[in-house]
Amino acid sequence: MHHRREILRRIFGAAAAARALKAQSTAPLPFLQNVTQSEATLVWPPAQSAPLSVEWSAGSNRWQSCPTTYAGTWADLGPSAQQSSVKLSGLPAGGRIAYRGAWNQPQETSFRTPLPSAAPFRFLAFGDSGTASDAQFALARLMAAEDPDFTLHTGDVIYPYTTPEGIRERYLDCYGPMMARCPMYIVLGNHDCMVEEGDPLLSIHRLPAQPASGRYYSFRWNTAHFIALDTNSIADPAMLTWLDRELLQPTVWRVVFFHHPPYTRGTHRADPICLEVERILAPRLERAGVDLVLTGHDHTYQRFLPIGQTTYCVTGGGGASLYYVGTTPRHAVAASAHHYLRVDVQGLMLRATAIGTEGQTIDDFTISKYPRRDPRAR
Ligand SMILES: [Fe+2]
Repeated sequence: MHHRREILRRIFGAAAAARALKAQSTAPLPFLQNVTQSEATLVWPPAQSAPLSVEWSAGSNRWQSCPTTYAGTWADLGPSAQQSSVKLSGLPAGGRIAYRGAWNQPQETSFRTPLPSAAPFRFLAFGDSGTASDAQFALARLMAAEDPDFTLHTGDVIYPYTTPEGIRERYLDCYGPMMARCPMYIVLGNHDCMVEEGDPLLSIHRLPAQPASGRYYSFRWNTAHFIALDTNSIADPAMLTWLDRELLQPTVWRVVFFHHPPYTRGTHRADPICLEVERILAPRLERAGVDLVLTGHDHTYQRFLPIGQTTYCVTGGGGASLYYVGTTPRHAVAASAHHYLRVDVQGLMLRATAIGTEGQTIDDFTISKYPRRDPRAR
């Protein structure tokens, strides 16, 4: 931990920390991380001090107080893992949880916790966003209005690489209002790994810590199992061994997300790392019958016809400048368009809609697990 702190201090430096403090004029806005059936973590952006405690309520007008863990600020530590955070625990599963503190009074903010059973839920996915472009902000506004339970980011969170200004201007300023109401689960893109292999970006989050400090992880939401991978280290035997075990876990729905697409017809088609993902990862995912695989890297939207049970989508149009896209007979849809993906899971149906900057539909598809009716049956 001390090693990491030192790395961050070296990268970001005192000047950046001072600039960040100067910009600290708005009320601190914590963002949600790692929401489970009984716990959630609130994290304050780097350089912003938190109140001493946060109160939460699941309805009934009874408020419980949780103390803030305070371990320094940006000024003395760099934008490190030592930000202020508070873990809300003892939450009810499937509840609407309100939280409040000095910064958001008199109106509290709220979020939802998952259930151990089937209930409808909504998540969003997008990638390749962090440029502070008009498209990125337009999509962020639309996404915030979707009221998702959580959001997946398929990597390249900040261009051209992670800096303190980038974290603020190209990420938290844009998604902060949404991230206060639903957790963001990121994976590392190639740009995110340009600074200390992604440590600074991971350290401002509180992604599931097991088994790889947020580099790859899984979580559950109702009847779905989500697996996040780090394809920058595609050949990491520890990750692949872990993945093979994860893929054996029983679940109704399984969604896997990572940055580099195994299948794409675009700028990155022949990237060595994409070819490795196709060789190493795709057969595993298809053999396991993963339902949906979400990637980024090519700044386009692409959906492929299912391979076995597995549907692949490239959702890399989160705000960075768009790339050329071609089509193949294996494509269902290919569009060079800024967008995000909205996914609604309801029982044995999953419905996904790709939505553009004007709110227009770019793609709309469903995956059903209902047994097919035999047309010969009466
Ligand atoms: Fe990328």
